[in-house]
Amino acid sequence: MKVGVLTGGGDCPGLNPVIRAVVRTSIQEGYQTLGIQNGWKGLVENTALPLDLSSVSGIIHRGGTILGTSRTNIFKDKTLLEKVKSNWKVMGLDALIAIGGEDTLGAASKLYKEGFKVVGCPKTIDNDLSGTDFTFGFDTAVNIAMEAIDRIHSTAESHSRIMVVEVMGRHAGWIALHSGIAGGADLVLIPEVPIKMQEVTDVIKKRHARGKNFSIIVVAEGAKFDGSEVTLESKLDDFGHVRLGGIGELLAKKIEEKTGFETRVTVLGHIQRGGSATAFDRMLGTRFGAEAVQLVKRGEFGNMVALRGNEIVACPLDVAVGTLKTVDPKFYGMAKAFFG
Ligand code: F6P
Repeated sequence: MKVGVLTGGGDCPGLNPVIRAVVRTSIQEGYQTLGIQNGWKGLVENTALPLDLSSVSGIIHRGGTILGTSRTNIFKDKTLLEKVKSNWKVMGLDALIAIGGEDTLGAASKLYKEGFKVVGCPKTIDNDLSGTDFTFGFDTAVNIAMEAIDRIHSTAESHSRIMVVEVMGRHAGWIALHSGIAGGADLVLIPEVPIKMQEVTDVIKKRHARGKNFSIIVVAEGAKFDGSEVTLESKLDDFGHVRLGGIGELLAKKIEEKTGFETRVTVLGHIQRGGSATAFDRMLGTRFGAEAVQLVKRGEFGNMVALRGNEIVACPLDVAVGTLKTVDPKFYGMAKAFFG
């Protein structure tokens, strides 16, 4: 049995632990592993390398992905899909494990429907895939953001400033909410709830009225201002996504204008995706990778490995990519007790 493995979409802490687990579990099962390079692009261009014990030695603590990644959409154009189908045969694949988020797994689901033996593995720092309690990478991103908020606390207090911290989260505010609550932020703004400037300035003014000379506002990059996302450029990627960015700057400007308090902004950006994964993500990635091979062994194609409670289960790819897992309004309601 020859099992292909690829990593697609934005990189994410925990990818190498998954690849390592896929390879080691495959060896245990007597399977060969073929590492497809740069996501779906590798299947289009026929670029792959056999993976053995030495290929995955010493990678568990390394960030990024030893296979490389891309945002190639094989369903954007018929000729790409034809290339994928013919290279599948050239590579001699019996099955494929696609590690990715909504876009990569969306393509995996479609390819499965075309008759190919595909299983998925949920990756994204945004934690916005349905069917799994957590995606790997999220815990690391939250910890990085929380640590940044901790550091911003002391400088905010020393200078009596308002500090806006922009974190990632295209459609969902999971990183903002978890890191904001854990880091003791005074307000968290998420894509699911449109920003109301009056509420933002009320929180700040109330804090000042009770003697606090600084405030920390965490905002997800996808948070909407005047009903729209704030973008860096109008160009769309292969999957139709715009490049988000700028909400932090915009918010900081408005806050300073409306309150008169000196305001600064910190954009964490790709720092949240780089470097080593936390122990939680290394373990989750390892369990996901090992179970993905078992799905292949049992012939449970068209599924993704998922975490439910403390169990790793199979979840149909369709369910995982059908609707995004956004922040529950009840959870955001609970968080409001910590604002201001
Ligand atoms: O989907 C994960 C993510 O990190 C989003 O939060 C963010 O909008 C996007 O990727 C950034 O992508 P890129 O690395 O292409 O700038």
